[in-house]
Amino acid sequence: MPSVAVRFAEAADMAAVCEIINHYIAATTFNFRTSPQTPDEWIADWTQYDTRYPWLVATRDERVVGIAYATPWKARAAYDWCAEVTVYVAHDCARQGVGRLLYERLFPLLDQQGYHTQVAAIALPNDPSVGVHEAFGFRHVGTLREVGYKQGGWRDVGFWQRRTGSSTQPAAAILPVPQLGA
Ligand SMILES: CC(C)(COP(=O)(O)OP(=O)(O)OC[C@H]1O[C@@H](n2cnc3c(N)ncnc32)[C@H](O)[C@@H]1OP(=O)(O)O)[C@@H](O)C(=O)NCCC(=O)NCCS
Repeated sequence: MPSVAVRFAEAADMAAVCEIINHYIAATTFNFRTSPQTPDEWIADWTQYDTRYPWLVATRDERVVGIAYATPWKARAAYDWCAEVTVYVAHDCARQGVGRLLYERLFPLLDQQGYHTQVAAIALPNDPSVGVHEAFGFRHVGTLREVGYKQGGWRDVGFWQRRTGSSTQPAAAILPVPQLGA
């Protein structure tokens, strides 16, 4: 099987990313959108966040087969050291180690930047997502019951959290992605 490479995302990747995620929007309850997105929406988000948060894609034979990225958990300034993380792998490439490769690259970058906590919001059930997050040290911290309605049923959302660094150390300025030298 051809090997998978992980690199920073580019605008040109967003059409493939959009296609990967539109599959899950249409076919599953993992993503709470109910309408497909456009590549332009993805480019707008990537442009807004890519200097403050790492956005990574996995490629196999130059095809984009997965994405992992971070965004603000919430906008208010005291949340600046907490990032929400997301990972998606093309449905025909699942369980082949792609998600693991993306996260193996993402978390050291977030740690290097100075993020203290990361949150994954997981619509339940989703064993693969729970599995990959727990494999990277995330722990379940709570579940909101029946906060979504999709595909004819009420859906729970669980929250998983990863924390690094010392609880007593003051927060330092977040290092922008272009300064990571990765
Ligand atoms: C969740 C997802 C990103 C995992 O990526 P993946 O490439 O399939 O996962 P990997 O093959 O790298 O597996 C990494 C680890 O995740 C866990 N995992 C993956 N698939 C799993 C499954 N079906 N059941 C339980 N655990 C699973 C395991 O711990 C696995 O490690 P192991 O293979 O050593 O046991 C992928 O399944 C996906 O895109 N799912 C749909 C979108 C989604 O739900 N994204 C998360 C939104 S919160």
